Amino acid sequence: MDIFDQIEFITTEDSSTGLYSKHIQDIFHSKSGAFKESYEKFFLPARNLIPECMKSINILDICYGIGYNSKTFLNNTKDYFIHIDALENNKEFIYLSPLVKDNIVNDVLKKQIILQIIKDNDDINEYGKILNKIKMLKLIHFFEPNIINFLQNEVIGSYKNIPVDKLNQFLHNIYYNYISDNNNYAFNRNSHKDFEINYYLGDARKTILQVKNQYDIVFLDAFSSQKDPTLWTVDFLYLIKSKMKKNSMLISYSKSTPFRSALIELGFYVGKTYIDSIDMGTVASLNKKFILNPLNEFDLQLFQTRAGITYKDPSLSFDSSTILLNRKIESESSSRISHTQFLKFNSY
Ligand SMILES: C[S@@+](CC[C@H](N)C(=O)[O-])C[C@H]1O[C@@H](n2cnc3c(N)ncnc32)[C@H](O)[C@@H]1O
Repeated sequence: MDIFDQIEFITTEDSSTGLYSKHIQDIFHSKSGAFKESYEKFFLPARNLIPECMKSINILDICYGIGYNSKTFLNNTKDYFIHIDALENNKEFIYLSPLVKDNIVNDVLKKQIILQIIKDNDDINEYGKILNKIKMLKLIHFFEPNIINFLQNEVIGSYKNIPVDKLNQFLHNIYYNYISDNNNYAFNRNSHKDFEINYYLGDARKTILQVKNQYDIVFLDAFSSQKDPTLWTVDFLYLIKSKMKKNSMLISYSKSTPFRSALIELGFYVGKTYIDSIDMGTVASLNKKFILNPLNEFDLQLFQTRAGITYKDPSLSFDSSTILLNRKIESESSSRISHTQFLKFNSY
């Protein structure tokens, strides 16, 4: 079974391409706009907090998927060297990431991403298969024609004439020819000094142990905690915390009570990201200064109820159903008051 059996492509309301997982039965991206969601819930909170004096930014993109959060950040920030470590458990999403129609009009950026993704012959072969599948399944309208042509003609097409053992040289040449051809355009367009993305393939609970950096920004974009709590546990968040600089922030679309409660338990300062006065997500930091809209007394008291019981995965290996069941059992035997009782007594 390949990726095309597991997902459905959708055109979201801002015309960017989104995905739906048939297996998890959950959306990857908001129906109101995959690009819009990434811009509003991940990029804007991050941008508001980047100190102007910073020269380089380290980002950990957990659940990279088709890369909206990294691409949107790269396309909208200037004057920094940006290093991204991207954690994703399905390589095919990484392949698709520079190809999808995503409202980010920056071919230079996407071509550079393709050239950073391809590391060996297998990647070239996989890209060949993906292009065939896209055409066979008539999915081409979900993809950027310019980028598909670049991949097909300038990368895969010219690679056919290259001896197998010369791949590295070939990619090196195409990358540097390409970068220098587009140098003026690329650097004026973005004012980027440069960027690099390293991909870590596998369960983020394991791959997070392989990354070497300390981060300025962490994006956490896992499936919803009710569907898949594995990346929302207090134990995984503890690992994330260990990878964060003091002056850094963790950004997520999630506003779930067990998630926010776990962040507080771990000693983070926690705030909300507001869009049009609506609570749209969470920012957490080890430095209070980074929290513009802190949680209020009501939220903090709510965490003391059963709703605030965190998801737990002490061996970082439990499956979703075990984590959900354990939390249910803990809640049923807990002396805490329920969420409903709490709301009854607190008419805010
Ligand atoms: C909600 S989607 C994130 C969308 C993504 N940020 C984007 O821009 O497309 C969740 C992603 O997390 C990946 N994922 C799920 N569980 C994971 C795990 N345990 N480790 C790493 N990646 C995981 C899925 O393959 C999927 O791509």
